[in-house]
Amino acid sequence: MPNPLAGRDILSIEDLKKTDIERVLEQAARFEEQHEKQPKLDVLAGRILATLFYEPSTRTRMSFESAMHRLGGDVISAASAAKTSSAAKGESLADAARVISGYADVIVQRHPEIMSAHEAAKGATVPIINAGNGSHEHPTQALLDLYTIQKERGQIDGLYIALVGDLKYGRTVHSLAHALQHWDVTLTLVSPPTLTMSSTIVSAVKGKITVNETEDLERTMKACDVLYVTRIQRERFEDPAEYEKVKGTYVIDRKLVERTNPGMAIMHPLPRVNEIAIDVDELPSAAYFRQADNGVYVRMALLALVLDAVE
Ligand code: NCD
Repeated sequence: MPNPLAGRDILSIEDLKKTDIERVLEQAARFEEQHEKQPKLDVLAGRILATLFYEPSTRTRMSFESAMHRLGGDVISAASAAKTSSAAKGESLADAARVISGYADVIVQRHPEIMSAHEAAKGATVPIINAGNGSHEHPTQALLDLYTIQKERGQIDGLYIALVGDLKYGRTVHSLAHALQHWDVTLTLVSPPTLTMSSTIVSAVKGKITVNETEDLERTMKACDVLYVTRIQRERFEDPAEYEKVKGTYVIDRKLVERTNPGMAIMHPLPRVNEIAIDVDELPSAAYFRQADNGVYVRMALLALVLDAVE
């Protein structure tokens, strides 16, 4: 079967069909299975990944870089790009991407502006992968979230999935909500009234699957299969007083999990601040560190497919 992702930009999860997503998940599972026997492959030997991060990142940047190394490729990196790259001199994202296209075969970029990934793609002559464009989207996180749901629960179809917390500014839940509409799931959105998901996303998803909105976390926890918790995105608030009002609205601790539903899978894109207490970490339902590990296999799959290096 021809590779539908070869040479493609990954700017939004909406650019990917269900079959494209499934292709990534299947390849990720193959890489994960291979990993124990053969931790280092030569699938991308001679290829270079450039990581260009204008916003803080631990997992996304390092798991992409780890993925490239595990596939035998090389990495060049502008971490803290807002300070250390020529953006500080006023260079446009399109120009930067055009120049970096001469140095690398694929570019992974994170930037606070919503149009940043599209701007970079205008100048780039190699694929651009969006690693977060402000509060808008985080498509590669959605891919690893789907992979994690599938691994934790055996399948995605038939599940009751709850997204909790900052659904207004949290980019991971925007991409994940869009992605989940390809499966037969029920989605419940749990947030304070000031941090609800945008009506544009909700109505797009509602056209395909059942979506409920509530503030009632406990009731939702009793019924759900997957609880996907997010951090309140302090850096996106214009008024710090507004953040103070909503921080700590939802805190999940061990007692609450044990009282409501110890069988569910608890996910979180991380970093967490205080929305999941540390005493949850040792429960079998705590899937968030496994979720972070999965990021490497999913990003290996994405890099190998975009660079057309796997069957
Ligand atoms: C998320 C992000 O950057 O959007 N982190 C991540 O990539 N795993 C979530 C967050 O910062 O809260």
